[in-house]
Amino acid sequence: MSNNYTEKLEFDRQHIWHPYTSMSTPLPSYLVKSAQGVYINLASGESLIDGMSSWWSVLHGYNHPTLNDALTSQISQVSHVMFGGLTHDPAIKLAQTLIDITPNGLDRIFFSDSGSVSVEVAIKMALQYWQSQEKAGKHKLMTVRNGYHGDTFAAMSVCDPVTGMHQIFDNVLMKSIFAPAPQTAIDETWHEQELETLNTLFKNHHHEVAAFIIEPIVQGTGGMRFYHPQYLKALRALCDQYDVLLIADEIATGLGRTGKLFACEWAEISPDIMCLGKTLTGGYLTLAATLCRSDIATTISEGEASCFMHGPTYMANPLACSVANASIDLLLKQDWQMVVGKISEQLSQELLPLKVIDKVANTRVLGSIGVVETTHVVNVAQIQKRFVELGVWIRPFGKLIYIMPPLIIKPEEISKLVNAIKTVLTEPECFNG
Ligand SMILES: Cc1ncc(COP(=O)(O)O)c(C=O)c1O
Repeated sequence: MSNNYTEKLEFDRQHIWHPYTSMSTPLPSYLVKSAQGVYINLASGESLIDGMSSWWSVLHGYNHPTLNDALTSQISQVSHVMFGGLTHDPAIKLAQTLIDITPNGLDRIFFSDSGSVSVEVAIKMALQYWQSQEKAGKHKLMTVRNGYHGDTFAAMSVCDPVTGMHQIFDNVLMKSIFAPAPQTAIDETWHEQELETLNTLFKNHHHEVAAFIIEPIVQGTGGMRFYHPQYLKALRALCDQYDVLLIADEIATGLGRTGKLFACEWAEISPDIMCLGKTLTGGYLTLAATLCRSDIATTISEGEASCFMHGPTYMANPLACSVANASIDLLLKQDWQMVVGKISEQLSQELLPLKVIDKVANTRVLGSIGVVETTHVVNVAQIQKRFVELGVWIRPFGKLIYIMPPLIIKPEEISKLVNAIKTVLTEPECFNG
């Protein structure tokens, strides 16, 4: 390794913010040279099997020829144009596809540049929808505890108040109404009683609530919890009964991860507004979409502002839309359910049994997502170092070691991920306390 390598990492440490870490005593970062298929290649020479899909975004692996081709051919056409007054084929094709494959009734699309922004857009849509009907009193948001919807301000106001660290921004965040987190797990017998508080909250607050936002079936960053579809069904019914819009945040779950194309399908419901992001471009570029029902778009458009008040500079970027089209085509033209099913089966066979290990509180699998909940908080720097030594890229947080590998992963590579988890679970220095 050259000096240059050390200098680069030192410059990075001194000058560049990384997510959720201190600038004074940052967690270490590893320098990436390239990535190919399911492997991330470090400048220091190690090749790591990616268990994280770069935070739920990579679907078909890195450096995929089809996705590369889509981008290079789009570059020679047009890389970017403003979306105000102009449109283009990649955006039109992507909108057509999303309307076809998402749950029924969602046929108006707003493209934006990240998951958090798509949540801001969804929230603004809901607020403007009620304002346009002169029901401005419906201006609050309802959600569940343990949720995560992004790091921008409206999104933060519907994240779990504790893990989302609301207290730091308490004086600026919108005050949302929080229901308890869904309790019954997806594989448990449904308990109707868990709806009691939710029913009461709807009854008491519906007149002031614009929308209920929720991650369908999988609560991701707020705990990697898989909850019962009956909860989502009941929530849909309550939203209908009390005239509250239902926003489904499918940013992490959309496009196959849970074993359904969209997690709402587990409960056979359609939300009124849906957010997509992350794997929309197969992990190549940042792009998000907020879809809504046509009557919501019409109501907003016929209201006081006569338009929807949002317009990001890179809205519907042609490169991002073209790689999204290629990635979705690639997904749909394979038997993706079988692929996810096989990953799921192997994770169930190999990861679920880790439950007997001392440091493990729980293990669970849904689709291509595998979770080991530990009894102690992980020591991120140490556990990360050990994972790199073991040839895998897994980034745990809190008491959660989880994987959701790219769909192209091979059985022996899944085994290597699980074995690495098994190894660190027996190493006390990988955990705090
Ligand atoms: C469910 C959910 N919503 C929203 C977001 C925010 O997306 P982004 O990081 O692209 O802003 C995330 C990111 O982890 C997420 O998991």
